[in-house]
Amino acid sequence: MTAQPFRNLIDGEWVPARSGRSFEDRNPADGRQVVAEFPDSGPDDVAAAVESAARAFKSWRLVPAPKRGEIVFRMGEILTRRKEDLARAMAEEMGKPLAEARGDVQEGIDVCFHIGGEGRRLHGFTTPSELPDKTCYTTRQPVGVCGLIAPWNFPLAIPSWKLIPALVCGNTVVLKPASAAPLLARHLAAVAQEAGAPRGVVNFVTGAGGAAGEAIVRHPGVALVSFTGSSETGRRVAVACAEGFKRVSLEMGGKNALIVCDDADLDLAVDGALWGAFGTAGQRCTATSRIVADGRVHDEFVRRLTERARALKVGDPRDEGNDVGPLVSEGQRRTVEEYVAIGRQEGARLACGGTRLEDGGREHGFYFAPTVFTEVAPGMRIAREEIFGPVVSVLRADGFEDALRIANDTVYGLSSAIYTRDVNRAFRAARDLEAGITYVNSSTIGAETHLPFGGTKQTGNGHREGAAATAIEIFTEWKTVYVDHSGRLQKAQIDNN
Ligand code: UN1
Repeated sequence: MTAQPFRNLIDGEWVPARSGRSFEDRNPADGRQVVAEFPDSGPDDVAAAVESAARAFKSWRLVPAPKRGEIVFRMGEILTRRKEDLARAMAEEMGKPLAEARGDVQEGIDVCFHIGGEGRRLHGFTTPSELPDKTCYTTRQPVGVCGLIAPWNFPLAIPSWKLIPALVCGNTVVLKPASAAPLLARHLAAVAQEAGAPRGVVNFVTGAGGAAGEAIVRHPGVALVSFTGSSETGRRVAVACAEGFKRVSLEMGGKNALIVCDDADLDLAVDGALWGAFGTAGQRCTATSRIVADGRVHDEFVRRLTERARALKVGDPRDEGNDVGPLVSEGQRRTVEEYVAIGRQEGARLACGGTRLEDGGREHGFYFAPTVFTEVAPGMRIAREEIFGPVVSVLRADGFEDALRIANDTVYGLSSAIYTRDVNRAFRAARDLEAGITYVNSSTIGAETHLPFGGTKQTGNGHREGAAATAIEIFTEWKTVYVDHSGRLQKAQIDNN
Protein backbone atom coordinates (compact mmCIF):
# COMPACT_ATOMS: atom_id res chain seq x y z
CA MET A 1 0.00 0.00 0.00
CA THR A 2 1.47 3.35 -0.95
CA ALA A 3 1.19 6.17 1.53
CA GLN A 4 -1.33 8.87 0.85
CA PRO A 5 0.32 12.18 -0.09
CA PHE A 6 -1.31 15.10 1.70
CA ARG A 7 -0.89 18.78 0.94
CA ASN A 8 -0.91 22.19 2.54
CA LEU A 9 -4.12 24.24 2.49
CA ILE A 10 -3.34 27.77 1.32
CA ASP A 11 -5.94 30.24 0.11
CA GLY A 12 -8.53 27.49 -0.24
CA GLU A 13 -6.32 25.24 -2.40
CA TRP A 14 -4.52 22.04 -1.45
CA VAL A 15 -0.94 22.55 -2.64
CA PRO A 16 2.44 20.82 -2.21
CA ALA A 17 5.46 22.56 -0.64
CA ARG A 18 7.05 24.98 -3.11
CA SER A 19 10.29 23.04 -2.80
CA GLY A 20 8.44 19.86 -3.80
CA ARG A 21 9.87 18.16 -0.74
CA SER A 22 7.86 16.01 1.63
CA PHE A 23 8.37 13.92 4.76
CA GLU A 24 7.04 10.56 5.90
CA ASP A 25 4.57 9.97 8.68
CA ARG A 26 5.00 6.47 10.13
CA ASN A 27 2.85 4.11 12.14
CA PRO A 28 4.46 3.83 15.60
CA ALA A 29 3.06 0.32 16.04
CA ASP A 30 4.99 -0.72 12.93
CA GLY A 31 7.73 1.69 11.95
CA ARG A 32 8.01 0.06 8.51
CA GLN A 33 4.61 1.40 7.52
CA VAL A 34 4.39 4.92 6.10
CA VAL A 35 0.87 6.13 6.86
CA ALA A 36 1.06 9.37 4.92
CA GLU A 37 3.37 11.92 3.39
CA PHE A 38 3.21 15.62 4.13
CA PRO A 39 4.79 18.72 2.59
CA ASP A 40 8.12 19.72 4.10
CA SER A 41 7.25 23.41 4.06
CA GLY A 42 9.61 26.34 4.44
CA PRO A 43 9.36 30.13 4.80
CA ASP A 44 7.91 30.59 1.27
CA ASP A 45 4.99 28.32 1.99
CA VAL A 46 4.39 29.98 5.34
CA ALA A 47 4.53 33.44 3.76
CA ALA A 48 1.89 32.40 1.20
CA ALA A 49 -0.30 31.03 4.00
CA VAL A 50 0.06 34.20 6.09
CA GLU A 51 -0.76 36.40 3.07
CA SER A 52 -3.82 34.31 2.35
CA ALA A 53 -4.93 34.58 6.00
CA ALA A 54 -4.33 38.34 5.99
CA ARG A 55 -6.51 38.79 2.87
CA ALA A 56 -9.29 36.63 4.30
CA PHE A 57 -9.17 38.51 7.61
CA LYS A 58 -10.48 41.68 5.93
CA SER A 59 -13.90 40.12 5.37
CA TRP A 60 -13.97 37.35 8.01
CA ARG A 61 -13.70 39.88 10.84
CA LEU A 62 -16.93 41.47 9.57
CA VAL A 63 -18.93 38.23 9.39
CA PRO A 64 -21.37 38.35 12.34
CA ALA A 65 -19.99 36.26 15.18
CA PRO A 66 -23.17 34.10 15.39
CA LYS A 67 -22.57 33.09 11.75
CA ARG A 68 -18.98 32.21 12.55
CA GLY A 69 -20.33 30.15 15.45
CA GLU A 70 -22.68 28.31 13.08
CA ILE A 71 -19.73 27.16 10.99
CA VAL A 72 -18.13 25.82 14.14
CA PHE A 73 -21.34 24.00 15.11
CA ARG A 74 -21.34 22.39 11.66
CA MET A 75 -17.75 21.32 12.26
CA GLY A 76 -18.92 19.67 15.48
CA GLU A 77 -21.61 17.79 13.53
CA ILE A 78 -19.17 16.58 10.87
CA LEU A 79 -16.65 15.47 13.50
CA THR A 80 -19.42 13.61 15.35
CA ARG A 81 -20.39 11.73 12.18
CA ARG A 82 -16.76 10.81 11.46
CA LYS A 83 -15.67 10.16 15.03
CA GLU A 84 -14.92 6.48 14.56
CA ASP A 85 -12.95 6.88 11.31
CA LEU A 86 -10.94 9.76 12.75
CA ALA A 87 -10.20 7.81 15.93
CA ARG A 88 -8.97 4.83 13.91
CA ALA A 89 -6.77 7.07 11.78
CA MET A 90 -5.35 8.63 14.95
CA ALA A 91 -4.60 5.29 16.62
CA GLU A 92 -2.75 4.20 13.50
CA GLU A 93 -0.83 7.41 12.99
CA MET A 94 0.06 8.38 16.54
CA GLY A 95 -0.29 5.17 18.53
CA LYS A 96 -2.76 6.00 21.28
CA PRO A 97 -5.23 3.21 22.07
CA LEU A 98 -8.54 3.41 20.23
CA ALA A 99 -10.59 4.29 23.32
CA GLU A 100 -8.27 7.24 24.02
CA ALA A 101 -8.30 8.26 20.36
CA ARG A 102 -12.10 8.40 20.50
CA GLY A 103 -11.76 10.60 23.58
CA ASP A 104 -9.36 12.88 21.71
CA VAL A 105 -11.86 13.34 18.86
CA GLN A 106 -14.61 13.87 21.43
CA GLU A 107 -12.61 16.72 22.96
CA GLY A 108 -12.60 18.41 19.56
CA ILE A 109 -16.37 17.91 19.26
CA ASP A 110 -16.92 19.27 22.78
CA VAL A 111 -14.87 22.36 21.95
CA CYS A 112 -17.01 23.04 18.86
CA PHE A 113 -20.29 22.81 20.77
CA HIS A 114 -19.00 24.78 23.75
CA ILE A 115 -17.19 27.58 21.94
CA GLY A 116 -19.63 27.81 19.00
CA GLY A 117 -22.14 29.38 21.42
CA GLU A 118 -19.66 32.15 22.06
CA GLY A 119 -20.71 33.48 18.65
CA ARG A 120 -23.90 34.66 20.37
CA ARG A 121 -22.11 36.00 23.44
CA LEU A 122 -18.60 37.44 23.00
CA HIS A 123 -19.67 39.78 25.75
CA GLY A 124 -18.21 43.17 26.30
CA PHE A 125 -19.71 45.48 28.93
CA THR A 126 -21.18 48.93 29.33
CA THR A 127 -20.49 51.23 32.24
CA PRO A 128 -21.55 54.81 33.07
CA SER A 129 -19.44 57.75 32.06
CA GLU A 130 -18.32 60.28 34.64
CA LEU A 131 -19.69 62.96 32.32
CA PRO A 132 -23.29 63.65 31.27
CA ASP A 133 -24.58 62.65 27.84
CA LYS A 134 -21.73 60.32 27.19
CA THR A 135 -21.89 56.53 26.68
CA CYS A 136 -19.08 54.05 27.27
CA TYR A 137 -18.92 50.45 26.19
CA THR A 138 -16.46 47.76 25.28
CA THR A 139 -16.38 45.15 22.54
CA ARG A 140 -14.09 42.29 21.69
CA GLN A 141 -12.28 42.43 18.42
CA PRO A 142 -10.28 39.75 16.64
CA VAL A 143 -6.51 40.00 16.85
CA GLY A 144 -5.71 39.19 13.21
CA VAL A 145 -3.71 36.33 11.71
CA CYS A 146 -3.02 33.66 14.33
CA GLY A 147 -0.17 31.14 14.08
CA LEU A 148 -1.32 27.93 15.76
CA ILE A 149 1.48 25.50 16.55
CA ALA A 150 0.19 22.19 17.87
CA PRO A 151 1.88 19.09 19.33
CA TRP A 152 1.46 15.45 18.30
CA ASN A 153 0.12 13.97 21.55
CA PHE A 154 -3.47 15.23 21.18
CA PRO A 155 -3.62 15.33 17.40
CA LEU A 156 -7.22 16.55 17.11
CA ALA A 157 -8.06 17.96 20.56
CA ILE A 158 -5.26 20.49 20.87
CA PRO A 159 -5.57 21.92 17.34
CA SER A 160 -9.30 22.30 18.14
CA TRP A 161 -8.61 24.17 21.39
CA LYS A 162 -6.75 26.71 19.31
CA LEU A 163 -8.56 26.78 15.98
CA ILE A 164 -12.17 26.89 17.19
CA PRO A 165 -11.98 29.94 19.50
CA ALA A 166 -9.67 31.71 17.03
CA LEU A 167 -12.34 31.36 14.33
CA VAL A 168 -15.37 32.28 16.43
CA CYS A 169 -13.56 35.40 17.60
CA GLY A 170 -13.06 36.45 13.95
CA ASN A 171 -9.39 35.65 13.42
CA THR A 172 -7.88 33.83 10.47
CA VAL A 173 -5.23 31.19 11.03
CA VAL A 174 -2.16 29.33 9.88
CA LEU A 175 -2.23 25.94 11.60
CA LYS A 176 0.96 23.91 11.85
CA PRO A 177 0.86 20.53 13.57
CA ALA A 178 3.92 18.63 14.81
CA SER A 179 5.59 16.50 12.15
CA ALA A 180 5.26 13.29 14.21
CA ALA A 181 1.46 13.30 13.75
CA PRO A 182 -0.01 15.94 11.40
CA LEU A 183 -2.89 13.87 9.97
CA LEU A 184 -5.75 14.80 12.27
CA ALA A 185 -4.97 18.52 12.12
CA ARG A 186 -5.11 18.15 8.34
CA HIS A 187 -8.54 16.52 8.63
CA LEU A 188 -9.66 19.30 10.98
CA ALA A 189 -8.66 21.96 8.44
CA ALA A 190 -10.59 20.06 5.76
CA VAL A 191 -13.63 19.85 8.05
CA ALA A 192 -13.49 23.63 8.60
CA GLN A 193 -13.51 24.14 4.85
CA GLU A 194 -16.37 21.68 4.38
CA ALA A 195 -18.37 23.38 7.15
CA GLY A 196 -18.18 26.66 5.26
CA ALA A 197 -15.08 28.53 6.44
CA PRO A 198 -14.40 30.87 3.51
CA ARG A 199 -11.27 30.61 1.41
CA GLY A 200 -8.14 31.67 3.27
CA VAL A 201 -9.70 31.71 6.74
CA VAL A 202 -8.07 28.39 7.67
CA ASN A 203 -4.62 27.72 6.24
CA PHE A 204 -2.72 24.56 7.05
CA VAL A 205 1.00 23.95 6.59
CA THR A 206 3.23 21.09 7.68
CA GLY A 207 6.97 21.02 8.16
CA ALA A 208 9.78 21.05 10.67
CA GLY A 209 9.53 23.26 13.75
CA GLY A 210 12.89 24.82 12.95
CA ALA A 211 11.74 25.80 9.44
CA ALA A 212 7.95 26.16 9.08
CA GLY A 213 7.34 26.78 12.80
CA GLU A 214 10.11 29.34 13.03
CA ALA A 215 8.79 31.08 9.90
CA ILE A 216 5.32 31.42 11.46
CA VAL A 217 6.69 32.83 14.69
CA ARG A 218 8.92 35.33 12.84
CA HIS A 219 6.49 36.45 10.12
CA PRO A 220 5.52 40.10 10.68
CA GLY A 221 2.01 39.42 9.40
CA VAL A 222 1.26 37.04 12.27
CA ALA A 223 -0.28 38.94 15.18
CA LEU A 224 -0.62 36.11 17.68
CA VAL A 225 1.07 32.78 18.29
CA SER A 226 -0.57 29.97 20.23
CA PHE A 227 1.94 27.25 21.02
CA THR A 228 1.76 23.93 22.84
CA GLY A 229 4.95 21.92 23.25
CA SER A 230 8.12 21.73 25.30
CA SER A 231 9.25 24.51 27.64
CA GLU A 232 12.54 24.67 25.75
CA THR A 233 10.84 25.45 22.43
CA GLY A 234 8.25 27.62 24.18
CA ARG A 235 10.99 29.86 25.52
CA ARG A 236 12.30 30.39 21.97
CA VAL A 237 8.79 31.11 20.72
CA ALA A 238 8.27 33.65 23.52
CA VAL A 239 11.55 35.43 22.76
CA ALA A 240 10.78 35.64 19.05
CA CYS A 241 7.27 36.92 19.79
CA ALA A 242 8.66 39.56 22.16
CA GLU A 243 10.92 40.83 19.40
CA GLY A 244 7.98 41.08 17.01
CA PHE A 245 5.54 42.47 19.64
CA LYS A 246 3.24 39.53 19.03
CA ARG A 247 0.71 38.21 21.47
CA VAL A 248 1.69 34.74 22.58
CA SER A 249 -0.04 32.00 24.50
CA LEU A 250 2.13 29.10 25.70
CA GLU A 251 1.25 25.67 27.06
CA MET A 252 4.37 23.75 27.98
CA GLY A 253 5.82 21.05 30.18
CA GLY A 254 4.68 19.39 33.35
CA LYS A 255 6.07 17.22 36.14
CA ASN A 256 2.72 16.51 37.69
CA ALA A 257 2.53 15.08 41.19
CA LEU A 258 -0.12 12.79 42.62
CA ILE A 259 -0.16 12.72 46.42
CA VAL A 260 -1.25 9.58 48.23
CA CYS A 261 -2.12 10.45 51.84
CA ASP A 262 -2.05 7.95 54.68
CA ASP A 263 -5.88 8.01 54.76
CA ALA A 264 -6.33 7.47 51.01
CA ASP A 265 -8.43 4.74 49.45
CA LEU A 266 -5.35 2.93 48.13
CA ASP A 267 -7.02 0.99 45.35
CA LEU A 268 -8.62 4.17 44.04
CA ALA A 269 -5.23 5.89 44.21
CA VAL A 270 -3.62 3.03 42.28
CA ASP A 271 -6.34 3.28 39.61
CA GLY A 272 -5.64 7.00 39.26
CA ALA A 273 -1.88 6.59 39.27
CA LEU A 274 -1.95 3.91 36.58
CA TRP A 275 -4.26 5.89 34.34
CA GLY A 276 -2.29 9.09 34.90
CA ALA A 277 1.15 7.58 34.43
CA PHE A 278 0.52 5.16 31.58
CA GLY A 279 -2.48 6.56 29.68
CA THR A 280 -1.26 7.69 26.22
CA ALA A 281 1.96 5.87 27.25
CA GLY A 282 2.71 8.83 29.53
CA GLN A 283 2.83 11.21 26.59
CA ARG A 284 0.58 13.88 28.06
CA CYS A 285 1.58 17.23 29.54
CA THR A 286 -0.79 16.27 32.33
CA ALA A 287 0.72 12.80 32.88
CA THR A 288 1.34 11.67 36.45
CA SER A 289 5.11 11.62 36.47
CA ARG A 290 5.65 11.83 40.24
CA ILE A 291 3.78 10.00 42.97
CA VAL A 292 4.31 11.37 46.46
CA ALA A 293 3.28 8.65 48.88
CA ASP A 294 3.01 9.06 52.64
CA GLY A 295 5.58 6.84 54.37
CA ARG A 296 2.81 5.07 56.29
CA VAL A 297 1.18 3.69 53.13
CA HIS A 298 4.14 3.86 50.75
CA ASP A 299 5.15 0.19 50.69
CA GLU A 300 1.64 -1.16 50.34
CA PHE A 301 0.82 1.41 47.64
CA VAL A 302 3.98 0.53 45.69
CA ARG A 303 3.23 -3.18 45.97
CA ARG A 304 -0.26 -2.72 44.50
CA LEU A 305 0.93 -0.24 41.87
CA THR A 306 3.74 -2.41 40.50
CA GLU A 307 1.54 -5.48 40.47
CA ARG A 308 -1.02 -3.64 38.36
CA ALA A 309 1.61 -1.93 36.16
CA ARG A 310 3.12 -5.32 35.28
CA ALA A 311 -0.30 -6.59 34.28
CA LEU A 312 -1.01 -3.79 31.79
CA LYS A 313 -1.31 -5.07 28.24
CA VAL A 314 1.04 -3.21 25.93
CA GLY A 315 0.40 -3.70 22.25
CA ASP A 316 -1.22 -2.55 19.02
CA PRO A 317 -3.37 0.50 19.83
CA ARG A 318 -6.03 -0.66 17.37
CA ASP A 319 -6.60 -3.84 19.36
CA GLU A 320 -9.17 -2.97 22.01
CA GLY A 321 -7.75 -5.56 24.41
CA ASN A 322 -4.59 -3.48 24.92
CA ASP A 323 -4.16 -0.82 27.61
CA VAL A 324 -1.02 0.93 26.40
CA GLY A 325 0.24 1.60 22.87
CA PRO A 326 3.69 2.41 21.53
CA LEU A 327 5.58 5.67 21.90
CA VAL A 328 5.15 8.04 19.00
CA SER A 329 8.63 7.53 17.52
CA GLU A 330 11.92 5.76 17.94
CA GLY A 331 13.42 9.08 19.06
CA GLN A 332 10.88 9.35 21.86
CA ARG A 333 11.62 5.78 22.93
CA ARG A 334 15.35 6.54 23.02
CA THR A 335 14.71 9.54 25.28
CA VAL A 336 12.72 7.36 27.66
CA GLU A 337 15.46 4.76 27.64
CA GLU A 338 18.03 7.43 28.47
CA TYR A 339 15.97 8.57 31.45
CA VAL A 340 15.72 5.01 32.71
CA ALA A 341 19.52 4.78 32.60
CA ILE A 342 19.79 8.15 34.36
CA GLY A 343 17.38 7.01 37.10
CA ARG A 344 19.44 3.90 37.74
CA GLN A 345 22.69 5.86 37.87
CA GLU A 346 21.12 8.29 40.31
CA GLY A 347 20.36 5.40 42.63
CA ALA A 348 16.60 5.06 42.24
CA ARG A 349 15.18 1.55 42.42
CA LEU A 350 13.61 0.16 39.25
CA ALA A 351 10.50 -1.54 40.65
CA CYS A 352 9.14 -2.65 37.27
CA GLY A 353 9.54 -2.10 33.53
CA GLY A 354 12.52 -0.17 32.24
CA THR A 355 12.89 -2.05 28.97
CA ARG A 356 11.83 -1.98 25.35
CA LEU A 357 9.20 -4.52 24.38
CA GLU A 358 10.14 -6.18 21.13
CA ASP A 359 8.47 -9.57 21.17
CA GLY A 360 5.09 -11.09 20.35
CA GLY A 361 4.11 -8.90 17.39
CA ARG A 362 5.82 -5.82 18.85
CA GLU A 363 9.05 -6.28 16.89
CA HIS A 364 8.57 -3.27 14.65
CA GLY A 365 6.78 -0.88 17.01
CA PHE A 366 8.19 1.66 19.46
CA TYR A 367 6.93 -0.12 22.59
CA PHE A 368 8.26 0.43 26.09
CA ALA A 369 7.26 -1.32 29.32
CA PRO A 370 5.30 0.66 31.95
CA THR A 371 8.05 1.66 34.36
CA VAL A 372 7.97 2.49 38.07
CA PHE A 373 10.95 3.91 39.95
CA THR A 374 10.88 3.95 43.75
CA GLU A 375 13.25 5.45 46.32
CA VAL A 376 13.37 8.56 44.15
CA ALA A 377 14.82 11.64 45.85
CA PRO A 378 13.43 15.09 44.98
CA GLY A 379 16.79 16.24 43.56
CA MET A 380 17.12 13.43 41.00
CA ARG A 381 16.69 14.29 37.35
CA ILE A 382 13.90 11.70 37.00
CA ALA A 383 12.02 13.66 39.69
CA ARG A 384 12.61 17.03 38.03
CA GLU A 385 12.60 16.69 34.24
CA GLU A 386 9.66 15.94 31.98
CA ILE A 387 10.17 12.50 30.43
CA PHE A 388 7.03 12.22 28.27
CA GLY A 389 6.89 8.45 28.41
CA PRO A 390 5.57 5.58 30.56
CA VAL A 391 7.85 6.26 33.52
CA VAL A 392 6.67 7.28 36.97
CA SER A 393 8.81 8.17 39.98
CA VAL A 394 7.58 7.39 43.50
CA LEU A 395 8.83 9.70 46.25
CA ARG A 396 8.35 9.04 49.94
CA ALA A 397 6.83 11.78 52.14
CA ASP A 398 6.90 12.18 55.89
CA GLY A 399 3.29 13.27 56.40
CA PHE A 400 0.91 15.64 54.63
CA GLU A 401 2.92 18.88 54.91
CA ASP A 402 6.01 17.17 53.56
CA ALA A 403 3.97 15.75 50.66
CA LEU A 404 2.77 19.24 49.71
CA ARG A 405 6.31 20.57 49.88
CA ILE A 406 7.68 17.78 47.66
CA ALA A 407 4.83 18.14 45.16
CA ASN A 408 5.55 21.88 44.84
CA ASP A 409 9.29 21.36 44.45
CA THR A 410 9.27 21.67 40.66
CA VAL A 411 9.69 24.38 38.04
CA TYR A 412 6.42 23.26 36.41
CA GLY A 413 2.82 23.84 37.43
CA LEU A 414 0.28 22.18 35.15
CA SER A 415 -1.67 19.47 36.94
CA SER A 416 -1.72 17.90 40.41
CA ALA A 417 -3.78 15.39 42.36
CA ILE A 418 -4.40 14.31 45.92
CA TYR A 419 -5.95 11.13 47.27
CA THR A 420 -7.36 11.64 50.75
CA ARG A 421 -10.62 11.14 52.64
CA ASP A 422 -9.94 14.16 54.81
CA VAL A 423 -11.88 17.19 53.60
CA ASN A 424 -9.50 19.58 55.34
CA ARG A 425 -6.52 18.16 53.51
CA ALA A 426 -8.42 18.19 50.21
CA PHE A 427 -9.16 21.90 50.44
CA ARG A 428 -5.64 22.70 51.68
CA ALA A 429 -4.23 20.91 48.64
CA ALA A 430 -6.70 22.63 46.28
CA ARG A 431 -5.43 25.95 47.59
CA ASP A 432 -1.73 25.27 48.09
CA LEU A 433 -0.64 22.96 45.29
CA GLU A 434 1.16 25.23 42.84
CA ALA A 435 -0.50 24.16 39.61
CA GLY A 436 -3.18 25.36 37.21
CA ILE A 437 -5.23 22.23 37.90
CA THR A 438 -5.79 20.17 41.07
CA TYR A 439 -7.81 16.97 41.18
CA VAL A 440 -9.15 15.54 44.43
CA ASN A 441 -9.49 11.74 44.42
CA SER A 442 -8.97 11.63 40.68
CA SER A 443 -5.91 11.39 38.46
CA THR A 444 -3.82 14.25 37.04
CA ILE A 445 -5.28 13.70 33.55
CA GLY A 446 -8.78 14.06 32.21
CA ALA A 447 -9.41 17.80 31.90
CA GLU A 448 -12.85 18.72 30.54
CA THR A 449 -12.83 21.19 27.68
CA HIS A 450 -15.17 23.79 29.16
CA LEU A 451 -12.91 24.50 32.13
CA PRO A 452 -9.75 26.59 32.03
CA PHE A 453 -6.72 24.50 31.01
CA GLY A 454 -3.17 25.62 31.64
CA GLY A 455 -0.48 25.96 34.21
CA THR A 456 1.67 28.15 36.40
CA LYS A 457 5.45 28.63 36.69
CA GLN A 458 7.35 27.32 33.64
CA THR A 459 4.28 25.53 32.27
CA GLY A 460 2.61 28.60 30.85
CA ASN A 461 2.59 32.35 30.49
CA GLY A 462 -0.66 33.15 32.23
CA HIS A 463 -3.22 32.06 29.67
CA ARG A 464 -5.82 29.33 29.89
CA GLU A 465 -7.23 27.42 26.93
CA GLY A 466 -10.49 25.47 27.04
CA ALA A 467 -13.19 27.46 28.80
CA ALA A 468 -14.93 30.00 26.57
CA ALA A 469 -14.30 32.81 29.04
CA THR A 470 -10.54 32.22 29.10
CA ALA A 471 -10.09 31.15 25.47
CA ILE A 472 -11.63 34.36 24.15
CA GLU A 473 -9.24 36.34 26.34
CA ILE A 474 -6.46 34.83 24.25
CA PHE A 475 -8.05 35.40 20.86
CA THR A 476 -9.58 38.89 21.20
CA GLU A 477 -8.46 42.43 21.82
CA TRP A 478 -10.57 44.70 23.99
CA LYS A 479 -11.88 47.80 22.23
CA THR A 480 -13.18 50.62 24.44
CA VAL A 481 -15.61 53.05 22.83
CA TYR A 482 -16.64 56.49 24.19
CA VAL A 483 -19.55 58.24 22.49
CA ASP A 484 -20.08 61.85 23.50
CA HIS A 485 -23.62 62.94 22.59
CA SER A 486 -23.60 66.22 24.56
CA GLY A 487 -22.69 68.39 21.57
CA ARG A 488 -19.91 70.12 23.48
CA LEU A 489 -16.29 69.45 24.47
CA GLN A 490 -16.32 67.58 27.78
CA LYS A 491 -13.04 66.92 29.53
CA ALA A 492 -12.74 63.76 31.60
CA GLN A 493 -11.16 64.19 35.04
CA ILE A 494 -11.49 67.98 34.68
CA ASP A 495 -15.05 69.02 33.89
CA ASN A 496 -16.68 66.81 36.52
CA ASN A 497 -14.81 68.28 39.47
C1 UN1 B 1 -2.02 17.56 27.00
O1 UN1 B 1 -1.45 16.56 27.41
O2 UN1 B 1 -1.35 18.46 26.44
O3 UN1 B 1 -6.42 16.36 30.70
C2 UN1 B 1 -3.46 17.77 27.04
C3 UN1 B 1 -5.99 15.65 29.81
C4 UN1 B 1 -6.48 15.87 28.40
C5 UN1 B 1 -5.70 16.95 27.75
C6 UN1 B 1 -4.21 16.78 27.86
N1 UN1 B 1 -7.88 16.17 28.40
O4 UN1 B 1 -5.16 14.79 30.02
